[in-house]
Amino acid sequence: MKKQAIIIPVASGKGGVGKSIISANLAISIANLGHSTVAIDLDLGGSNLYSYLGLENIYPGIGDYLVTKKGKLTDYLVPTNFPNLQFLAGERRVAFMANMPHAQKVKLIKEIKNISADYILLDLGAGTTFNTLDYFELSSNGIVISTFERPSIINTLSFIKNFIYRIVQKEIRNNNKISVAIDELSKNYIEDDLLLLSTINNLIKEMDAELALKIEEKCNTFHPRIIFNMGEHPDDLTIINALEKSVKKILSIDLCFFGYIFYDKYVKLSASGNQVLLEKYPECTASLGITQIARRIIKYKNQNIENSSKLLQIHTLENYNLWKAGILSENI
Ligand SMILES: Nc1ncnc2c1ncn2[C@@H]1O[C@H](COP(=O)(O)OP(=O)(O)O)[C@@H](O)[C@H]1O
Ligand SMILES: [Mg+2]
Repeated sequence: MKKQAIIIPVASGKGGVGKSIISANLAISIANLGHSTVAIDLDLGGSNLYSYLGLENIYPGIGDYLVTKKGKLTDYLVPTNFPNLQFLAGERRVAFMANMPHAQKVKLIKEIKNISADYILLDLGAGTTFNTLDYFELSSNGIVISTFERPSIINTLSFIKNFIYRIVQKEIRNNNKISVAIDELSKNYIEDDLLLLSTINNLIKEMDAELALKIEEKCNTFHPRIIFNMGEHPDDLTIINALEKSVKKILSIDLCFFGYIFYDKYVKLSASGNQVLLEKYPECTASLGITQIARRIIKYKNQNIENSSKLLQIHTLENYNLWKAGILSENI
């Protein structure tokens, strides 16, 4: 039987936070560690993953596949300069692909699940369109990239909130009575007055206890993995306790704090010079941070991590001290 790949969607609430460069280099790093890997550009309004992988924009990809309806999605996979790593391009010519019709999206999701590999990374578009949220649902441990700037943190929270509400919406959409009741409930909540998922679910419970339980169980399976990018000091991470608490309170789910990448001038240098970060600057702090995260992905696969906020704080401080001492190396 064909093995099921581990799918890793990489999302963000806000654009420009490092989603594509991290997706590309995580894919390279996982492939370097000996696992067959596919990097897919699913940012269909702004495909540029090819550039971070050191490729030219010459490959037909998802846009062409969906428009021409020719062949299978796997026919569009191309090799890269890295052993074990294949690439699937997004779109080059077709406008408005990010808003593809529902049936096309369902087909695309099915085909992605059928790709044979150990790991499949999906570089998603920023924001909370239904399509992006539905790609994120391909894993219970999708990655959300955030920086420490307040707008990015706010958008990270709204991404996670929209994602969980989308799950609820899909579960109740065939039940008109419940949908109307929730609409009514939402209208009574003004901005400062938070509508908790538990309040919504209590209302559903009154009307359909079985459905409420199903929704609760489904939401509990999701542990979005947060990767902080462009960090400057381990003290940045003092915000994670508040983040963890508010997501638990509002959405009743546990976040997983999965990685921390330092701000690093070599990232911009590699991007401007059309070079691959891990190839050109393998020893820079950002490359080492990404390699550590790749190892963590392989170690934990789809498992949840207990105490992730504490662990990330400890690891980040260790990395910072080694970096300051000039001995941060790939082997830590
Ligand atoms: N750790 C980092 N340090 C410095 N610059 C970074 C870092 N991560 C990303 N960048 C820069 O941020 C910009 C946006 O990155 P990109 O991956 O294209 O973001 P996104 O895909 O989220 O829109 C790029 O110019 C990149 O060089
Ligand atoms: Mg991008």
